[in-house]
Amino acid sequence: KKVVLAYSGGLDTSIILKWLQTEYGCEVVTFTADLGQGEELEPARAKAELMGIKPENIFIEDVREEFVRDFVFPMFRANALYEGLYLLGTSIARPLISKRLVEIAEMTGADAVAHGATGKGNDQVRFELAAYALNPEIKVIAPWREWDLSSRTKLLAFAEENQIPVAKDKRGEAPFSVDANLLHTSSEGKVLEDPAQMAPDYVYQRTVAPEDAPNEPEFIEIGFEKGDAVSINGEAMSPATILTKLNELGGKHGCGRLDFVENRFVGMKSRGIYETPGGAVLLEAHRGIEQITLDSGAGHLKDSLMPRYAELIYNGFWYSPEREMLQAAIDKSQEHVTGTVRVKLYKGAATTVARWSDHSLYSEAHVTFEEDAGAYDQKDAAGFIQLNALRLKLLAARNRRFK
Ligand code: ARG
Ligand code: SIN
Repeated sequence: KKVVLAYSGGLDTSIILKWLQTEYGCEVVTFTADLGQGEELEPARAKAELMGIKPENIFIEDVREEFVRDFVFPMFRANALYEGLYLLGTSIARPLISKRLVEIAEMTGADAVAHGATGKGNDQVRFELAAYALNPEIKVIAPWREWDLSSRTKLLAFAEENQIPVAKDKRGEAPFSVDANLLHTSSEGKVLEDPAQMAPDYVYQRTVAPEDAPNEPEFIEIGFEKGDAVSINGEAMSPATILTKLNELGGKHGCGRLDFVENRFVGMKSRGIYETPGGAVLLEAHRGIEQITLDSGAGHLKDSLMPRYAELIYNGFWYSPEREMLQAAIDKSQEHVTGTVRVKLYKGAATTVARWSDHSLYSEAHVTFEEDAGAYDQKDAAGFIQLNALRLKLLAARNRRFK
């Protein structure tokens, strides 16, 4: 038996690695991805080697460009927000990890994949739905749902017995659980569990508090092509470089913080603290360029599809025909979403202050309050209003009779 494990190199997944070897009797292949979480990956290689993983079974990959280009950007074309607020930073990374797990399983002749998500959350659903969608024969091992290492004490005892090094700061209870990538950081659990209590300042890792942000606003220009950001201040950049840069700029100005109680797919509510500085700036700018380049019919339809699209991603259905159908419609809407947006960053807010495009539908000739030289005949509006009012008048007359 051979299994590909999504391995971070941290304590929990190191324990899982050992447990798969000893309790399951599996040969383990490790996959460690750089998704922009801001951690060195080479220590994960050293740790895997230390636990007897053969060099050819250690996979360490920088997937930042793929993550932003093929997952984050397509999602941002939709302006996706789950339950009105959450930019889906964890949700959108899981399908990519699962895709690589399945591909590596096929390359190495493994019949199973394993992940470190608990049995209570969304991530297990996302990892597994994606894996099954990509390979119907694959087996999934979710140690957190199977083992009896239910307490921190038992976990640490298992680590001790198996010579897994435990960093000093990991001996105690972790203050909360963090997931990070180029799009966001999320923190949940422990000190954050009571939604009636304010989150301590130390949870925030990549944004300053808006009140501590610079007293001077900063103006940046984001260029878009077919709905995707392609440049900052006139300089063309790759997708991951753009998001990295927007994280710096947004983080410095305290943009993209969220304290949120959400509905998990498995039924419970949970409270999380999110930081999505670059994503918050990108969403604002994308809406800014859509304002002048999207037709109203296309734009309103797209907005009505968005909550459904966001829910599919949250619930783990990235690889589903319905997500792909919605994506096709959203991508079609973006054909002319090309142009430039100037965004003001100031004390936690990212605000569109100017936008321009060769593809603009905005017609000053039509909208002007000045003489419009015949572009629009105001008399046309009278009939337009009368016909739209017709059924409202008939209703009002009927309702008066029954009052
Ligand atoms: N609640 C968020 C989501 O479901 C974040 C999950 C964070 N995952 C984690 N392993 N800490 O997308
Ligand atoms: C977990 O349960 O592993 C993290 C939280 C989640 O998946 O929702």
